[in-house]
Amino acid sequence: MTYARFAGIGSYLPEKVLTNKDLEKMMDTSDEWIRERTGIKRRHIAADDETTSSLGLEAAKRAMRDAGVGPEDIDLIIVGTTTPDQIFPSTACLIQHQLGIKGCAAFDIQAVCSGFVYALDVANRFLQTGGATTALVIGAETLSRIVNWEDRGTAVLFGDGAGCVVLQASDEPGILSSHSHADGQYADLLQVRCGISVGYEEAKSGGAFIEMNGNAVFKRAVATFDKIAREAVADLDGGLSGIDWFIPHQANMRIIKAAAKKLKMPMERVIATVDEHANTSSASIPLALDHAVQEGNIKRGDTLLFAAFGGGFTWGSILVKY
Ligand code: ACO
Repeated sequence: MTYARFAGIGSYLPEKVLTNKDLEKMMDTSDEWIRERTGIKRRHIAADDETTSSLGLEAAKRAMRDAGVGPEDIDLIIVGTTTPDQIFPSTACLIQHQLGIKGCAAFDIQAVCSGFVYALDVANRFLQTGGATTALVIGAETLSRIVNWEDRGTAVLFGDGAGCVVLQASDEPGILSSHSHADGQYADLLQVRCGISVGYEEAKSGGAFIEMNGNAVFKRAVATFDKIAREAVADLDGGLSGIDWFIPHQANMRIIKAAAKKLKMPMERVIATVDEHANTSSASIPLALDHAVQEGNIKRGDTLLFAAFGGGFTWGSILVKY
């Protein structure tokens, strides 16, 4: 059997940091409120000359270095993003060109905060069926560009960043299970109304902002994390107790803790980095993974569970032997 194995990982956070104290000067909020309700301490904000593709490119270079692969080895590039540089070409094509890669498939996946898990799921299927041998799977976002800085209910929650894994076809495990789901009936609860065929004029005058019903999203996210975690481990020996590390989408510390509690997963086995970079949507899981690997917490052979939930609603999971 062919598995998609994690061969390398890299991530990138923009240099500019916006702390909760900085936000206090910009809007009617407080460090205490933000920490208590979300666990977030700071977020990174892309500089004017940085873009989603430049963040993703840096993460990709670091992951390729970590995996010991060159541009000539890559035969698939998938970017999970909700904030692409341009309407087209895709962010994946822009990164492909910057890396000097020609000819391989390169495309974006728009599944909001589930984008990275969706991208891994698709790449896994390419590798398992022989459609590719070495893939770059990137989650990259510049959410600060679609934050309404006058809405304290959302502005404090988001940040920019990117992460990337190099997936390689291998006889050694690898991704053990991957699932992607969606239910569009909840679109109104978390959205940016403006797009191309709807609200384009408004978007051009700076009206494309994240809007959210925070309470409803919170409840649905916790319930869904529980459901997807159980689906992911259906065939794993020991079920949930066979997981070494749970790496949920980094939206909010309270959501992470509530999900872990429902799953009876001790927080010692949960990777949480949301305090350092806020919600970076599709970049959040690879950022958390890279941090935990760098810290020496996650080791080769560990069993990891990624679980994501986001606008759409979309949700999904990846179970992997690292
Ligand atoms: N600073 C100070 N006060 C604030 C702020 C702020 N930044 N934002 C809202 N408030 C106020 C509200 O106006 C309200 O005041 P009121 O009681 O006078 O009306 C009060 O705080 C409570 O507001 P709630 O919205 O009820 O606060 P809640 O405890 O639900 O926390 C939060 C809000 C943090 C958004 C929470 O609902 C949440 O975490 N939701 C999940 C949303 C999320 O993480 N989304 C990310 C995208 S989806 C995903 O990635 C899974």
